Amino acid sequence: MNDLTPDPDTLDPIERASTAELRELQLERLQSTLAHVYANVPHYTRAFDEVGVRPEDCRTLGDLSRFPFTVKTDLRDNYPFGMFAVPSDQVSRIHASSGTTGKATVVGYTAEDIDMWADVVARSLRAAGVRPGMRVHVAYGYGLFTGGLGVHYGAERLGCTVIPVSGGMTERQIQLIQDFEPEVILVTPSYMLALIDEMRRQGVDPASTSLQVGIFGAEPWTEAVRQEVEDTVDMHAVDIYGLSEVIGPGVSQECVDTKDGLHIWEDHFYPEIIDPETGQVLPDGEEGELVFTSLTKQAMPIIRYRTRDLTRLLPGTARPSMRRMEKVTGRSDDMIILRGVNVFPSQIEELLLDIDALSPHFQCVLTKPDRMDVLTVMTESRETLSPEAARAVAGRLASTVKQRVGVTVEVEVKDPGGLPRSMGKAQRLIDNRH
Ligand code: DLL
Repeated sequence: MNDLTPDPDTLDPIERASTAELRELQLERLQSTLAHVYANVPHYTRAFDEVGVRPEDCRTLGDLSRFPFTVKTDLRDNYPFGMFAVPSDQVSRIHASSGTTGKATVVGYTAEDIDMWADVVARSLRAAGVRPGMRVHVAYGYGLFTGGLGVHYGAERLGCTVIPVSGGMTERQIQLIQDFEPEVILVTPSYMLALIDEMRRQGVDPASTSLQVGIFGAEPWTEAVRQEVEDTVDMHAVDIYGLSEVIGPGVSQECVDTKDGLHIWEDHFYPEIIDPETGQVLPDGEEGELVFTSLTKQAMPIIRYRTRDLTRLLPGTARPSMRRMEKVTGRSDDMIILRGVNVFPSQIEELLLDIDALSPHFQCVLTKPDRMDVLTVMTESRETLSPEAARAVAGRLASTVKQRVGVTVEVEVKDPGGLPRSMGKAQRLIDNRH
């Protein structure tokens, strides 16, 4: 794999600023964001009044903890445009995430917001090793989902040639990779694995393509998948994180030179980690729920948004003043509590990738045949196996899960191609308990 470390001279000045400079900028931006929402978003006027805080009460960054959280239902309750802080003629784009239940979550952007978003994505791509002039294959979905258009604008901003393929048409994705020879691919990690299968099906050696770096996000993925993809495709695999409520992709990015968690672009997005039970702010280094406050967004600023994502804040490395978040291994929503033990689909992913006979595709299915919850891990073999061999592999995974995670699971091994492939975010958890 090539060394893709960016030239330090190409970084944004703030990426090289001191922590003191960054904190000063954050405080100034935070104060103005709090004033903006209090004056322009009735939800925030009410929410601040209810707990008796005013924007002027925020004199230090620590004072942010006195302000109320925003949760997904606040956005749903204000559907569609009630959280917007600018008149509608200043909103130049709308995105929405469908969610699993009920109404979509709607988010809006002014032209300035779109501009800032392109900047943070360009910064992310540069940290991932992308250079101006490279060809960038975008297989995140275009449309209301923020993935496709979000990274598209950032790649253009960096000066790349963008190939806006979107998700789907798996066969054609491979054709386009071979014909257009992109150096970069942006795609969900689960769809990357499906693309690798498709290459093999077409007789294309995944290591022979032009790809040098894959930038994967929109869903959790583990070090085991990084290893698998880096080895088979012979390219760097780095993590990109974001969420629509905060902006979309480009909130934080793993640097290709360190691959040690994701640097948060803290000049625009202020992170906190809280205890999900009590809401107390936890010190850096402790694991909890990630909370974000936007510092520069105009159309839909967001205060202390509870992401449900579980991680820790760590000191900066490749960008010393920007803190890192550890790779998100799960959302509190995806946590399975099986007979009192917390289990995340990502733990299963790590263990199943240790077994050569199994492909990286999997699903966790919860049922309740009697009064007890049962977790069945649906897996797929790489080659067709005899029933005895499949049983042996299933037994092996069940026993490592028992040993390493501490729970008893059922394992089913299907033939190659036996599990559904996602073209975007994979659905890892299927709850059939009701
Ligand atoms: O998934 C934005 C995005 C698009 C990020 C493309 C990266 C690449 P939403 O649809 O609003 O936005 O979903 C946000 O997805 O709260 C996490 O639970 C999960 N997520 C996003 N990136 C990662 C990641 C986009 N790198 C939700 N690792 C977030 C783990 C991720 N989970």
